[in-house]
Order: sequence, then C-alpha cells, then structure tokens
Amino acid sequence: MAVIDNFSISKMDNSINQSQKELEDKLLTIASGGQVSMAVALGMELNLFQAMATACKASPRHFATAAEIATQAGCKERYIFEWLASMACAGLIDVDPSGRLFSIKPEHVQILAGENGKQAHRHLYTMAFLPGFGIAFPELKAAFSLGGPRGVPYSAYEDTFYTAMINFSRSLHDEHLCGVYIEMLGVLELLQNGANVLDVGCGGGYHVQKLARHFPKSTFTGVDITQSAIDKAIAGAKGLHNAKFICADAGRLHKDWTGKYDLVFFFDSCHDLGRPDLTITEVNRVLKPGGFFAMLEWLNGTGNVYDNIKTYGGPLAALFYGISALHCIGVGSNEEGDLGLGMMMGIDTGKKLLENAGFAKENISVQKPPFLPYNALRFQRPY
Ligand SMILES: C[S@@+](CC[C@H](N)C(=O)[O-])C[C@H]1O[C@@H](n2cnc3c(N)ncnc32)[C@H](O)[C@@H]1O
Repeated sequence: MAVIDNFSISKMDNSINQSQKELEDKLLTIASGGQVSMAVALGMELNLFQAMATACKASPRHFATAAEIATQAGCKERYIFEWLASMACAGLIDVDPSGRLFSIKPEHVQILAGENGKQAHRHLYTMAFLPGFGIAFPELKAAFSLGGPRGVPYSAYEDTFYTAMINFSRSLHDEHLCGVYIEMLGVLELLQNGANVLDVGCGGGYHVQKLARHFPKSTFTGVDITQSAIDKAIAGAKGLHNAKFICADAGRLHKDWTGKYDLVFFFDSCHDLGRPDLTITEVNRVLKPGGFFAMLEWLNGTGNVYDNIKTYGGPLAALFYGISALHCIGVGSNEEGDLGLGMMMGIDTGKKLLENAGFAKENISVQKPPFLPYNALRFQRPY
C-alpha cells in the first residue's frame, strides 16, 4: 500500500540530512499524538470507548458503525465518525476495509473503557488534564513571560484539574492503595486497629474516601487549599462517619493539632505546594511520638533532566515534565518565596525537605512501590 507523505519536508528537499529527518519524524509523532490526546480526552468525557465497547458487543462480528456507536453514546453520527477515524488512524481501535465499520478488540476493552469495576489505563487519564491546561493557556503564557505574574492560580484551570486528578489518582492507586502500599509502609495493623490520619493536599478526597471505607476504625482528615476540591471531597464522602475535610493552607495547620496524628500522608502533593518546607515542618509538629509520615511522589529520578530521560525513558519523562510545565510549576509559584519544585524534583530534594524540617535522617527510608514509577519517603518518629 502506498503511503502518502506530502507533509514531509524530506520528500521535497533532497539536502535534508538524517538528523533533520529524524527530528521531522519526531515532530510528526508529537503533533499527531497531541491532537489524538485531546480527542481521547473528549471521548472520555462522553464515554465514547464505553459506547463503542457496548455497540461492538451487540454485533455478531464485533464491528459497529458510527451510527450505532453514536446512538449508544447519545451523540451526533457525523462527529462520532470523525472521532472514530482519528482513533483508528492512531491505532487505538480497528477499522475494516470498508472504512465504515469500527471495532475495539475484546482484550482492549479493559484498557480503553475500564471494565468489571477496574479503571481504564492511567495514561488515558493524563490526557484528561489537557482541556484544563487549554483553559489556563492565557494565564500560563503570562506567567512564563518576564514581567508576568509569579504563578498560575488553581482557579485558572477552573474545576477541570480536580476532576481530572480524582480520576488519575483512582487509575493509579485503586488496585494497590489499601493493600500493597499500606503493607509496604508497615501501617496495616495501625490502620486496622484505629488511627488518627491526616492527608495533606487531599484534592477531591479520593484517598481519604477509599481508606476510610477500608479502615472503618480509623478516622481521616483531608486538608486542601482549594474550597471547590474540598466540596467535591465532602460530596464523595457522603455516609462515611470517619472522614472529614477542611479547607486550609497546609503550611499553617491548626494550632491545636500538635502531636495529634498517628499517620500523615502526602499523595502526589509535595511538589505542588508553594512552601513544602513549611508544610513538612508542620507535619513534624502534628505527628505523634511513634507516628508515621508517608510521602508518595514521583521521586524515582535525581532531578537532573539528562538522568531522568534514562531513568524514566524519554516519553514518560517528557509526559511528566510537560505536566509540570503546564501546571505544577505555576501552582507552586504563586507567592513570594514559593519554591515551585515541579513534578520531577527528584529524590534528594525530597529527602532534604524532610531533614530540613527536623526529621532525623536515620528514620527516613526510601520505599519503592512495585506498581508505579515512583517512590515513597517513609519516616517513623521514635517513641
Ligand atoms: C497533584 S494534587 C494531588 C491531590 C491528591 N492528593 C491526589 O493525589 O489526588 C496537589 C494538591 O495539593 C493541594 N495544595 C496545593 N497547595 C496547598 C497548600 N498550601 N495547602 C493545602 N493543599 C494544597 C492542591 O489543591 C491539590 O489538591
């Protein structure tokens, strides 16, 4: 089959060298992936992969037309056809030789649509951040520019960030949070017997809700700086007697909380805090003797870009630095003195934050959850 490649400069210009050709190929992959990613994000909002899976299941050949999928999704056929075409050209779904029948492979349904109570693949949920990054685009542009504002407030992303974050966290942690992770930290018994637990930067409350359901004898408090996130967290915790949420700056926790908590969690929040140094000092204050602090972060790398490409691999490192540039740096830089650490701050920065906040070095350990490319820093205070 002839491949039409009129877009290629190298087809028009014989003087182009190999490295220029490689760069051109990379640009095409990225340009194509960017458009498809945004289309995937739209498809997730409209549950199009789920609609496709249902429509295909109903057909004897496991292929469905755009009309059938559109009916299932409650959408317009013309739009759905174009969306299916982009997914098929990207290789996420199949198209038959007629060019009008589409199929999602049965073994791909779990990954693309989620199934049997299991989430779709986490990479899909990273694409779901893109519409919000688009909304914040003018404020991002201003913040990047000399003379522009220091940072980007959470409000610039409207509510999209917190919804996307809940889904992303669920896709990362639903399988392992209450089992593998808790056991790895050595806090299973503590939680089973009843502990007082704080989640700092709890966002829309996913972790608190999940843990509170699993460990009914423990009580959980989530703290976040954004009221709309706290509202989401409260709404999702309806009926839970052992979970509460407070809107507050974690750099100034309640003065009566000194020595109150058996266990303090950070889930993916350290790098977004403007002043993680002050917050971790506060964690030190509110932790009981014998208490635990567990900070789960993207700390596999050293913070050195060159090393991170090797550690994570180019595509994953680029994904994380991309999210960091379009979100983490801005939200972590709003006030004078904010550190703006970014998602790839690295393990040594993480350790230093704990040590500078007064946690004894010998009680800090790096723990590697087997399920994702990140690390936890675990601290236990001696009695
Ligand atoms: C990447 S999100 C992680 C949310 C949640 N832990 C999760 O994993 O789904 C970082 C969170 O930190 C919160 N945050 C940022 N600065 C904060 C501060 N000074 N005090 C409390 N929360 C803060 C943000 O609002 C956001 O919900």
